[in-house]
Amino acid sequence: MSSWSVVSGGEAQTLELGKKLGRLLQRPALILLQGDLGAGKTVFARGIARGLGVDPEIPITSPTFTLMNHYQARLDLYHFDLYRLSDSDELIELGFDDYAYGSGVTLIEWPEKLDNPGTPGLWVNLKRIDEERREINFFLQGETNQELIAVLQEICHFYQRNNLSKAEGI
Ligand SMILES: Nc1ncnc2c1ncn2[C@@H]1O[C@H](COP(=O)(O)OP(=O)(O)OP(=O)(O)O)[C@@H](O)[C@H]1O
Ligand SMILES: [Mg+2]
Repeated sequence: MSSWSVVSGGEAQTLELGKKLGRLLQRPALILLQGDLGAGKTVFARGIARGLGVDPEIPITSPTFTLMNHYQARLDLYHFDLYRLSDSDELIELGFDDYAYGSGVTLIEWPEKLDNPGTPGLWVNLKRIDEERREINFFLQGETNQELIAVLQEICHFYQRNNLSKAEGI
């Protein structure tokens, strides 16, 4: 199986989910974050950054105008926001492929702008259920990184159990 789904009950849970993923990442990875404006892509990215060990004093915000922010951590982190990308030449100028398939963790908000829905990597889709809840779907595309699969299984089982026990507690 290469897809998993969890429900986040609020910003803090999405942050925690990202943090767990960041903590467990041991190897370079490309993570594509899909979702509407305000879905929680940057919150999730912030969690990954914290989990990778980016200094907590450094704010993690969308690189909307700069297109890419670089953070130093256990693995280098490259955070792209392609919302304002006008054409793919800009990506070439940025040296995008070197980052995407380099030695760090690369996060991409608005990966639709890559015009390649087949891009191999971990696709994460965040959907707004209501003000506080988000459905988060993980899909591993063209990835055979067994470590990443194990990490996702662990995280998703943890949250599925959590959500279940919460529902039972109501
Ligand atoms: N469960 C949740 N997970 C994440 N964010 C949530 C959740 N519930 C509410 N929010 C709120 O939704 C907003 C998410 O903002 P965020 O900047 O992460 O969105 P985004 O997907 O990066 O949007 P954009 O496309 O504009 O960059 C925040 O204001 C956050 O407080
Ligand atoms: Mg964002």
